[in-house]
Amino acid sequence: MAIVGGSAELNTGARIPIIGMGTGSMNMNEEDIKAAVIAALQVGYRHFDTARAYGSEHALGKALNSAFQSGLVSREDVFVTTKLQNTEHDDPVAAIKDSLKNLQLDYVDLFLIHWPVKLRTEIPFSPLKEEDFLPLDIKSTWQGMEQCMEMGLTKAIGVSNFSSKKIEDLLKHAKIPPAVDQVEMNPNWQQKKLRDYCSKHNIHVIAWSPLGAPNTPWGSNAVMDNPLFQEIAQKHGKTRTQVMLRWSLEQGVSPVPKSYNAGRLAENFQVFDWSLTPDDHDKISKLEQKKMQPALTRLSKNYGMGRFECHAPWFKPLRS
Ligand SMILES: NC(=O)c1ccc[n+]([C@@H]2O[C@H](COP(=O)([O-])OP(=O)(O)OC[C@H]3O[C@@H](n4cnc5c(N)ncnc54)[C@H](OP(=O)(O)O)[C@@H]3O)[C@@H](O)[C@H]2O)c1
Repeated sequence: MAIVGGSAELNTGARIPIIGMGTGSMNMNEEDIKAAVIAALQVGYRHFDTARAYGSEHALGKALNSAFQSGLVSREDVFVTTKLQNTEHDDPVAAIKDSLKNLQLDYVDLFLIHWPVKLRTEIPFSPLKEEDFLPLDIKSTWQGMEQCMEMGLTKAIGVSNFSSKKIEDLLKHAKIPPAVDQVEMNPNWQQKKLRDYCSKHNIHVIAWSPLGAPNTPWGSNAVMDNPLFQEIAQKHGKTRTQVMLRWSLEQGVSPVPKSYNAGRLAENFQVFDWSLTPDDHDKISKLEQKKMQPALTRLSKNYGMGRFECHAPWFKPLRS
């Protein structure tokens, strides 16, 4: 996908700002989220990534609304992504309407199926056991997603955590092809095969946990602490996170790093006026590949009939 300036073109013709702000966090404090969103807007972020599962839609909506009111930005300036929860596959239209209410918006720019996983509606946040999972009828979910777009509730639709095989399956039924696949991607899990597949099918890739999610219960400091990034950063007079994010950009991918700290938000946005060298790319391409959460993606193996051991608040460990 061609990246021009600070944005990339989606297969809908719309442009997506190339760096986004992630809002999936253990910190659910509304005031912290609002302050971080305003700080991000001031720095120049225009893409905000949320999901019903994160519990951040409401605070994001309040922050954006106050920014619209004060004239800091207008609705057309920002790109908002939200996601269909695993319990909402039966009615994406009702789900997006709830999200829009939370966000105080008439439409989002991108609506994603969060996981290729369907859970029973009555137990969204309980510890999971085998019988909590339902077979996912991707054809019917995608029809609901398409309806959201046809109704003008979202400008684009896409998927998240879908392998190329699952996208292949989806494409057999799709009237509107997915614009995006949002997946775990960072230098330790480069997703080359999936990215090649997406590129061939004109599907833009968004990278979640682009820093490897340091200091979170679901990630680790493995990427951040790799001395290679310190070495490359020193050479360019940049920081390790700037090197990682610049690398994502130069792969043609949109990272959505999360920080609620104004200084780190600004640091993470300073990635536009310099480049990595071919030697930097060569070294990064040789890093040992290790998925951050093999257990997490195992969940989606057979549309939700796998085991799951994530410690994130929205997914408690599987009861055995
Ligand atoms: N689609 C999905 O299934 C899915 C899954 C996971 C995440 N996501 C999305 O992707 C976003 C980002 O992923 P993530 O939060 O897992 O991982 P991440 O962005 O790789 O890492 C976030 C962590 O890095 C720290 N950090 C950020 N900038 C830093 C800097 N300059 N220096 C040092 N530390 C820094 C943050 O701490 P501070 O906040 O203290 O700065 C936080 O602990 C989420 O917020 C969410 O929107 C999507």
